[in-house]
Amino acid sequence: MTAKLILGKEVSEEIYAELRQRIASLKEHGTVPGLAVILVGDDPASQVYVRKKGEMCEELGMRSRIIRMPAETTQEELLGKIAELNADEDIHGFLVQLPLPPHIDEEVVIASISPEKDVDCFHPSNVGKLLIGDPDFMPATPAGVQQMLVRSGVEIAGKHVVVVGRSNIVGKPMAALMVQKGPGADSTVTVVHSRTANLAEITRTADILVVAIGKPRFITADMVRPGAVVIDVGTNRVDDPTHPKGSRLVGDVDFDAVKEVASAITPVPGGVGPMTICMLMANAVRAAEKAAGVSR
Ligand code: GUN
Repeated sequence: MTAKLILGKEVSEEIYAELRQRIASLKEHGTVPGLAVILVGDDPASQVYVRKKGEMCEELGMRSRIIRMPAETTQEELLGKIAELNADEDIHGFLVQLPLPPHIDEEVVIASISPEKDVDCFHPSNVGKLLIGDPDFMPATPAGVQQMLVRSGVEIAGKHVVVVGRSNIVGKPMAALMVQKGPGADSTVTVVHSRTANLAEITRTADILVVAIGKPRFITADMVRPGAVVIDVGTNRVDDPTHPKGSRLVGDVDFDAVKEVASAITPVPGGVGPMTICMLMANAVRAAEKAAGVSR
């Protein structure tokens, strides 16, 4: 049996329809949600992500500002720009696209963003609020994964979720979301990573396997329990001479083999990808609602 596909495009369309309504009511209150993105340097993948974020703002009728700074920008200059955005009433949320050039300290930069405008949910105070179950913002990619599970009718409560990878952007906040009390969570969570002993033994006990380890086709069919739901957050560019570009994107899961074992699976591309920007937009709308005093 081949697994059912869970597609981020379909799930995100549902959420965008809801966001459009919220944006329309905000406009009736005289507020246009505004999102800014700072890009330092010219990392090609970051340029694509930043452009997509701007385009989605325009599509939703939000205010969008993209601030491009050269790779030689000093940390002081970047902190100055962040201070400007912290004080800008037209901008309800903003983010600094990562990775930053090596001479800039990511932690210092993230900590300088006003938590009320931290739509990435990277600021330590927002990470802490997430952990205690009182979040103002949701971490975009993990929240996107959660929405894919919930809106595809996957039962989460009481299930064993195994998260593969322990990054601050995906693995750790994913685990924090899934272990919370309440709808879309209430699961038993195990986090495994590059230093885990007997990793495959543990992944085979997962009802839901969320993979974000950054290694192409790391999860093979023998590591997946028959009937498990497999969410692949990985995007790895690998050489492929048969492709016009000479390379293509693959996930952290060996899709062709694992789809024969799993009950549901996300492809790469077309799976989790579209959800990250969607949940970022949801955070920007939430920031604008809070600033406008619109309760939800
Ligand atoms: N780089 C890769 N993913 C992300 C993200 O979610 N937010 C930011 N700011 N940078 C990223």
